[in-house]
Amino acid sequence: MCGIVGYVGSQSALEVVMAGLKRLEYRGYDSAGVAVLADGGLAAAKKAGKLVNLEKELGARPLPTGPTGIGHTRWATHGGPTDANAHPHLDNAGRVAVVHNGIIENFAVLRAELAERGHELSSETDTEVVAHLLAEEFSGTADLAEAMRLVCRRLEGAFTLVAVHADEPDVVVGARRNSPLVVGIGEGEAFLASDVAAFIAHTRSAVELGQDQVVELRRDGVTVTGFDGRPAEVRSYHVDWDASAAEKAGYDYFMLKEIAEQPKAVADTLLGRIDAAGSLTLDEVRIGAAELREADKVVIVACGTAFHAGLIAKYAIEHWTRIPCEVELASEFRYRDPILGPRSLVIAISQSGETMDTLMALRHAREQGSKVLAICNTNGSTIPRESDAVLYTHAGPEVAVASTKAFLTQLVACYLVALYLGQVRGTKWADEIRAVIRDLAQISGQVERVLETMEPVRALARSLADKKTVLFLGRHVGYPVALEGALKLKELAYMHAEGFAAGELKHGPIALVEEDLPVVVVVPSPRGRSVLHDKIVSNIQEIRARGARTIVIAEEGDEAVAPYADHLVRIPATPVLLQPLVATVPLQVFACELATARGNEVDQPRNLAKSVTVE
Ligand code: M6R
Repeated sequence: MCGIVGYVGSQSALEVVMAGLKRLEYRGYDSAGVAVLADGGLAAAKKAGKLVNLEKELGARPLPTGPTGIGHTRWATHGGPTDANAHPHLDNAGRVAVVHNGIIENFAVLRAELAERGHELSSETDTEVVAHLLAEEFSGTADLAEAMRLVCRRLEGAFTLVAVHADEPDVVVGARRNSPLVVGIGEGEAFLASDVAAFIAHTRSAVELGQDQVVELRRDGVTVTGFDGRPAEVRSYHVDWDASAAEKAGYDYFMLKEIAEQPKAVADTLLGRIDAAGSLTLDEVRIGAAELREADKVVIVACGTAFHAGLIAKYAIEHWTRIPCEVELASEFRYRDPILGPRSLVIAISQSGETMDTLMALRHAREQGSKVLAICNTNGSTIPRESDAVLYTHAGPEVAVASTKAFLTQLVACYLVALYLGQVRGTKWADEIRAVIRDLAQISGQVERVLETMEPVRALARSLADKKTVLFLGRHVGYPVALEGALKLKELAYMHAEGFAAGELKHGPIALVEEDLPVVVVVPSPRGRSVLHDKIVSNIQEIRARGARTIVIAEEGDEAVAPYADHLVRIPATPVLLQPLVATVPLQVFACELATARGNEVDQPRNLAKSVTVE
């Protein structure tokens, strides 16, 4: 939520910062702004709306060129998406500029104090107080990093702050509490950003900042301290993807590219997980075998799409390990006094590794003595840093706000964890584990095949562009797939879409069914648990009898369901528990095409942001 960039070096800061903001626009697109230090002063520009509005503004009123600058792309919290509320915010003298991601909870008190001391604040944001406080502290210290430390000690809430001061023209200062901020180190230049994507075109050498740390950036290096001024330990790392991974590569949208990348993402997430003897080795799961054996329950916490991955994981974990598994929305879990202890294994799933609801849930779990395993796609992000162990998914950068390839890789990681628990606890034989791994290894090719047959799904989506509602039904692991299909349609097509457990329909939701209502049904495999298959065939007949237009996602060779499908989408046959890996793909394509047909912004749906760093 909100993208931040800071730069000091020998290039034009404005150009570096604008290019960085373009890469971070997925984090928020309510407004954008920049500030550069030049000619002994500070110049800023900001505009409501997308980055393109700021580009136009800069075209009409260019800023001077200078080597130090900061920028921001906003997802609004306090105050609407107006020019005045856009960042950067300046002090009254126009010497200090600050950009911010997060929420400063005590801003009202601070604002009142500033007003009493004669400051004039002109926006409705919580951020503006920081510019004024920094100006006050700088007048006493003449040191922006020290001023930042003093200010941060007075702030409550979650924040990443990046600031410049006209009297320290070669310095950019950043501060971090709970919201993300990474440092990039180049040759005679340094970068600050919410995400490495902002500076990956310049350097792949990064430094992770910890909680409550302040960083001072100069051309010749960076200095990191705690808010208390003591030198801090930091971890450097090499970013293992390059700028091309964050490009659209000829696709119209990042989402299309990311859907197409799923076969590779799935295969990459499986790589290196099996040792020479054929056993599953999850080296990153640094929780001892004894503790895993003693775990008396698994609790999965996550939000949105990652929550749906967790719902599917429950079926695999309980079936393969016989440990009870609860799955909960992180935002609900944290504040309901959940029953946890040292024998609870908590799994936090998050693509970004920065989702505040999930972070708060995992902190709460650790306070109760539980071990936390993160499943995450972003190296060095907060959630894995604060967990006892992490299993990284290898989806590569996911830029589109709607999650696609991250979801499939989260599922793969969940299956691996479930198998690993089965291995450690002895509820799965080695050959059974190897058989599932072989099935998982097939999935990449099967997703490829699904992607090759999507034209009829796209045509169907276009034909439904004027519909108001679409329902999604599933049973067993198909139920969370239905929820995911509905979420994709809501966030991308802005249509009323709901997912239901097919068996639950008769308890109320069937009243929604009317003539020509599109209902997508995810049909379980007719093999294995065929009782589920028979039941869903009955459910399809029930809705057809009431006029629904059925869009049926069914395995190749499932002929029993064909007579009841107005539109039949075939997916390859997989083992029952793995079906979500192929069944979700047509739903992603469907939502993406429907959004395009309705003229919506596919990569940046309204009101949303990729990384949700507020509670
Ligand atoms: O980064 P996370 O996986 O923690 O994000 C969780 C949700 O915010 C995310 O999955 C969201 O629901 C997506 N926009 C769905 O497409």
